[in-house]
Amino acid sequence: MTHTFFLQAPLTVTLIILTTQSIVQVSANPPSINSCRSYCGNITVDYPFSTRPGCGHSGFRDLLFCVNEVLMFHISSGSYRVLSIDYAYEALTIHDHDMSTCDTLVRGKGNGFVLESWRVPYLMPAPDNVFMLIGCRAESPLFQGFPGKHLPCRNVSGMGCDEYYKCNGWDTWPKRDASYGMGPPECCSVGFGAIRAINLTRLQCAGYSSAYNVAPLRISGPSQWSYGIRVAYTVPGDYAFCRACEATGGTCGYDNVAGGDLCLCGDWNSTSNCDSDRSISESRGLILSVCEMWTGMFLACMVAWMTLQ
Ligand SMILES: *[C@@H]1O[C@H](CO)[C@@H](O)[C@H](O)[C@H]1NC(C)=O
Ligand SMILES: *[C@@H]1O[C@H](CO)[C@@H](O)[C@H](O)[C@H]1NC(C)=O
Ligand SMILES: *[C@@H]1O[C@H](CO)[C@@H](O)[C@H](O)[C@H]1NC(C)=O
Ligand SMILES: *[C@@H]1O[C@H](CO)[C@@H](O)[C@H](O)[C@H]1NC(C)=O
Repeated sequence: MTHTFFLQAPLTVTLIILTTQSIVQVSANPPSINSCRSYCGNITVDYPFSTRPGCGHSGFRDLLFCVNEVLMFHISSGSYRVLSIDYAYEALTIHDHDMSTCDTLVRGKGNGFVLESWRVPYLMPAPDNVFMLIGCRAESPLFQGFPGKHLPCRNVSGMGCDEYYKCNGWDTWPKRDASYGMGPPECCSVGFGAIRAINLTRLQCAGYSSAYNVAPLRISGPSQWSYGIRVAYTVPGDYAFCRACEATGGTCGYDNVAGGDLCLCGDWNSTSNCDSDRSISESRGLILSVCEMWTGMFLACMVAWMTLQ
């Protein structure tokens, strides 16, 4: 009869080991490292951006992709190369391979800049970014509802078509201007706010260019402008959630399914931060462990008692 007890002993030992393990697991909550920050080429991808699902803010999900160490920005009008991310000024600069610059005018290519409507609260070309629409047809919605010379075309941040016409790229192109009374101008510069979407198909334009002004100083000429699109981004709640999360050693992310903010705390996720829920979860865990331990002991006692009958 006694040898049955020894057969059962490994079970008792296993139970004790299991309960001890669960106590150790709950009390040792290691400080989590930022598992969401990454690098693509020489660009740091950090909150609110991420190249991984569940990391960063959900408003920027499925936006950046690292392809062969080149960071790409993907929206409904296409994919653009990311030149830089300015976390201090909350802006990123992107470049469209098919946009015109000062040296080269591109026609019949390029998609402009169109955002999915759900991204509008999070992303918007900066107010000091100018779009220069090239070769738009007279029937373009751009020129409808603007009788006479009151066209929507205007300078943005000191940049506009009058200056852009001085570029080398225009040497072989006619610089038709609205003031000549011969239809729409060959180039029409607008800020993004004026038309909300640079859809070349819808606007019936042949091409476009975009330039931005980062420095407050006035730049001498169009050959000195920075060509690309400067996109301002907005984090809802002004980072409050993420700051609280990071202050408690967490990494900011979101629920991949429900989309809400999540604080990634190593081996568990919190909807607030790694401290507030930890105490509850820890005490819950401890109670559970103690109960487990008592259950284990009870079972062991039962087994011993029964085998010694
Ligand atoms: C990244 O490298 C490119 C050249 O490869 C350079 O032009 C650019 O300024 C660098 N960007 C940063 C943020 O260091
Ligand atoms: C926490 O959330 C992240 C992002 O949604 C997910 O990848 C991870 O599996 C979650 N971890 C746990 C322990 O639920
Ligand atoms: C641009 O406009 C055209 C015509 O209105 C439309 O079919 C197309 O889907 C639009 N493109 C984007 C990226 O929204
Ligand atoms: C745009 O700026 C240029 C040069 O600064 C100026 O000559 C031109 O009149 C301006 N155009 C408009 C539409 O304000």
